[in-house]
Amino acid sequence: MNTQNILHAVRYALIALTLTSGVACAVAPPVDTKEKTTEEKTNKETPEYVAEMKAKVFSKEAVSVQNGEKRFNQTCVYCHGHQGSGGKARKLQGRDFDSDYLFKTITKGKKRGSLVMPPWKRTFTPEQRWELVTYIMSLSEEK
Ligand code: HEC
Repeated sequence: MNTQNILHAVRYALIALTLTSGVACAVAPPVDTKEKTTEEKTNKETPEYVAEMKAKVFSKEAVSVQNGEKRFNQTCVYCHGHQGSGGKARKLQGRDFDSDYLFKTITKGKKRGSLVMPPWKRTFTPEQRWELVTYIMSLSEEK
């Protein structure tokens, strides 16, 4: 190999390197985005999405409480009583709940002795669960 050939070889090697790293960089971000999109389609429970829905629901609180109340009366009243006055489960009225605790509990369900509340994650969207949260918090003033 003469010097000219060696220079050619080095140049091709450099070009090849630039191309491969260039391709790697160009491909990496779309792959990342795609994974996230798929995850959000199949599971809308990413912390970002849950936080976004919380902000949305709390920003129109009066409407959210109404929606929450409607849903509560369809699904929860059987165990928790009229306006959360209690029954098959502890009363929810007049209590000082943390919003994130309520969301988590509604999402995952809860057990006390032989009494069991199922998780509501598959039944209600995060937005609907936050509406239930605003309704339950609105009961804190009730006797
Ligand atoms: C099959 C009966 C049943 C239904 C239906 C039900 N719950 Fe419950 N819930 C329970 C039981 C049992 C507990 C745990 C024991 C307790 O707190 O009394 C509980 C606990 C809770 C708690 C936590 C209370 C605390 O003191 O920590 C919240 C909040 C709650 N339920 C909200 C809801 C909402 C919202 C719905 C409707 C989507 C609902 N529940 C439907 C039975 C039920």
